[in-house]
Amino acid sequence: MSLSLNEYIWQHRSDASLQRVAPLLLGVAQACSQIASAVRNAALNHASGAAGTDNIQGEAQQKLDVISNDIMVAATQELARVLASEEVEQVIAGNPTADLALVFDPLDGSSNLDVNISVGTIFSILSAPQGGSDEAVCLQSGTRQLCAGYALYGPATMLVITTGMGVNGFTYQEETGLFVLTHPDLRIAPQAQEFAINASNQRHWEQPIQAYIADCLEGRDGVRERDFNMRWVASMVAEVHRILLRGGVFLYPADSRAKTRNGKLRLLYEANPMAMLVEAAGGAASTGQMRLLAIEPTELHQRVPVILGAKDEVALIEGYFNQG
Ligand code: AHG
Ligand code: MN
Ligand code: MN
Ligand code: MN
Repeated sequence: MSLSLNEYIWQHRSDASLQRVAPLLLGVAQACSQIASAVRNAALNHASGAAGTDNIQGEAQQKLDVISNDIMVAATQELARVLASEEVEQVIAGNPTADLALVFDPLDGSSNLDVNISVGTIFSILSAPQGGSDEAVCLQSGTRQLCAGYALYGPATMLVITTGMGVNGFTYQEETGLFVLTHPDLRIAPQAQEFAINASNQRHWEQPIQAYIADCLEGRDGVRERDFNMRWVASMVAEVHRILLRGGVFLYPADSRAKTRNGKLRLLYEANPMAMLVEAAGGAASTGQMRLLAIEPTELHQRVPVILGAKDEVALIEGYFNQG
């Protein structure tokens, strides 16, 4: 029997985190189905291309970045005390009586929009206890996330979520407008034979990443004694989804350029939620030097180096850093 997200939440009524976040999670799911429709119909609705504005990251916003952000805010503002988004510099005040915070990347991989390649939405739900500023509530370490997930707008629209115990994937059913559990209990194999990294940045990488990738590329003729495959979609959602389904590792390391000296990806709404999902599926997530989820955030839009996926492979990469 296929379970809808609502039925799944009911069936897991002993999961206290899930019950606590359920209304907000359903709001996020509702927003994601609307974003999926906006993305799918953008060319028909004159919603493609650049918005003509820059976000706080210094990135040119796409019209769909802004549209997706607005959809998410409208669907969740009453359900959370505070929201924080990649596309908005400051925190967004929500409902002061609510006790949750929602941090999100409304549209991940937006450089892929014009070429019709998979994009997604990434989100993290945190506790927002009374007291403390709205911003301070968002600056909690990833270990404190109550729920994390993403929506993938690919050939199928999917919602993949965790509250820490297992990772479950739901597929959006057009006919009913429901997310249906199609991928229960996703697990990541500890060993990897596939890596994902933007190889065009190779000359800027730090030494441990140079050494690790060089060893992978030598394949069965080198120390790794097996051949590696490579993928790079340039949508983190699609990369993490692939790793959850068929394994591998994903790296967006720090490099020597000023803009990416702490990596490219953002800690609160990209790295932390993905790290929680990957760990809950039996994988690992690291900066190379430490567990990603243990970082104490200091800024809303701070960046971080990301290495995540197969547990043994992430440990091996950390070994390259320890040698350096
Ligand atoms: P966003 O579109 O939300 O700004 O995120 C883009 C990120 C991520 O999706 C992806 O892994 C990475 O940027 C791709 O970077 P490159 O363009 O350097 O390959
Ligand atoms: Mn962006
Ligand atoms: Mn992103
Ligand atoms: Mn984005």
